[in-house]
Amino acid sequence: MNYPYVTEFRQSLVEWFNVEKRDLPWRHTKDPYKIWVSEVMLQQTRVDTVIPYYNRFIESFPTLELLAEAPQEYLLKHWEGLGYYSRARNLQAGVREVLENYGGIVPNNRHEISTLKGVGPYTAGAILSIAYDKPEHAVDGNVMRVLSRVLNIHEDIAIAKTKKIFEAAVEELIDPENASSFNQGLMELGALICTPTSPKCLLCPVREYCIAFNEGEPEKLPVKSKKVKMKHLTYDVLVCEDQNGRILMEQRPAEGLLANLWQFPMIEHGKDSIDTFKIEYSLDVQSQKNLLTFKHVFSHLTWHLNSYFMICHSTEKGVWLTREQIEQLPMPVPMLKIWREMEN
Ligand code: ADE
Repeated sequence: MNYPYVTEFRQSLVEWFNVEKRDLPWRHTKDPYKIWVSEVMLQQTRVDTVIPYYNRFIESFPTLELLAEAPQEYLLKHWEGLGYYSRARNLQAGVREVLENYGGIVPNNRHEISTLKGVGPYTAGAILSIAYDKPEHAVDGNVMRVLSRVLNIHEDIAIAKTKKIFEAAVEELIDPENASSFNQGLMELGALICTPTSPKCLLCPVREYCIAFNEGEPEKLPVKSKKVKMKHLTYDVLVCEDQNGRILMEQRPAEGLLANLWQFPMIEHGKDSIDTFKIEYSLDVQSQKNLLTFKHVFSHLTWHLNSYFMICHSTEKGVWLTREQIEQLPMPVPMLKIWREMEN
């Protein structure tokens, strides 16, 4: 890297961060466990969305020990609506490893911390720098955007190995005396100033040291090749209530999308599929009405859902639960939407 402004860049970024940083709940602690929770939540999820989840999570699980002991359903209930639920399960597995292998102390070096479940290079660097002030890189999409502009890097950030280029750049750029403020400064700059479209360069504390700004086209960076095509699936969702007011529920498989979450029976839309389902569950349906029809968009998949409410005579087949029991279960957001519609 032959970037001539290392010292100036560091100093301007750190000073700016210390003055302009947002007051966020995880910025009131140095507890590596709490930083870990915040960083896992912040992967793929916006700050404004994360704040109430983080507060509630830390209230229920203020220590590693309490998270380690939590029943999975109770844990997932705290993650309900955040998406990417494997993050929660991995976090709990990682915390259990810290208790078993490191006496309850989150490791303070990259080698050990990276062995923990769910802790990739970004999370490792974020915890090490923010909680322990170690000069370690923490490169996510926002940091790649900022540095692609500052350093005029044109490599395609959609290709996994490009991240190594940015990690190496941070290793050279990072302020060894202010690692926490430096890394958080990069994140904050990406969130507030160096945004994907219409970056606010006139407010940028490192504009003078930004090669893309000086060359005139910061918005052209980063280079990112096209993402994968969206897949579409159509399902019928059946809310079946029996003579005792109980509702038929199913748990999703332990692997894959929304693993282990609970839902109303969901069947791929097709000719006769609802009838087949009724036969399979020996459902004696007394009445049926349409509920919501809507779509739910995941990162690479869109669900098109038609939901129905049925009054049935239940048999022994399937899991029939009371409303109170259902309220305790973690459910995917589109199922909550149907549930709220029903209960209105
Ligand atoms: N995004 C990822 N980590 C963050 C943090 N610690 N503060 C704000 N935004 C973030």
